[in-house]
Amino acid sequence: MSQSPATDQQLHARVWQELQCASRDRLHEWRTPVLATSGLGGGVDARTVVLRGTDGDAQTLTFCTDRRSPKVAQLRAAPLASLVFWSRQLSWQLRVQAVFSVQVSGPQVDAAWLAVSTSATAAADYLGVDAPGALLAEGRTAPGDRHHLAILTARVQSMDWLELSPEGHRRGLVSGSGVDWLVP
Ligand SMILES: Cc1cc2nc3c(=O)[nH]c(=O)nc-3n(C[C@H](O)[C@H](O)[C@H](O)COP(=O)(O)O)c2cc1C
Repeated sequence: MSQSPATDQQLHARVWQELQCASRDRLHEWRTPVLATSGLGGGVDARTVVLRGTDGDAQTLTFCTDRRSPKVAQLRAAPLASLVFWSRQLSWQLRVQAVFSVQVSGPQVDAAWLAVSTSATAAADYLGVDAPGALLAEGRTAPGDRHHLAILTARVQSMDWLELSPEGHRRGLVSGSGVDWLVP
């Protein structure tokens, strides 16, 4: 296991490095964070999503979804949302506040669809005639002939990092300008 980051710069770099690894490595525990959004009728909603891409310079994280899924309408209505990552291996939790934007067309969506459509199973996730969450007609949903893939881009506003350790827990608010250390 890598050493725990000692300096502010090391922590900032390691967090983005782990996020990048998670977007590429199916086995990385940060691959599947929980995305929490504001519900349309009040309250909150949360679900697991797959981290598909990262850009440390732009401070963005990307995800794929069906554009008809309820989370898309929720994010359009209230773009500020939270992601929670936990890795038992790292003993690290990361809570990210981010402003989300939704893309349903354009070169980035086309490229993502090209990549997804190399796997029939993966493509099927975005080809359903019925929207995610709709009542099942006749017990099953049928594939349609056009995809509904959308890209969610999360522009990171703040990152709250927590390391659990027998030597003492550590917690820091990680931003481009450094780390504010907090009581865990
Ligand atoms: C391990 C795992 C990974 C998932 N990844 C995604 C994903 O990347 N995108 C997505 O839209 N839904 C994903 N889902 C399904 C969502 O958790 C959720 O059930 C679905 O998107 C409907 O969410 P909504 O009704 O809040 O829009 C995943 C579920 C699991 C269990």
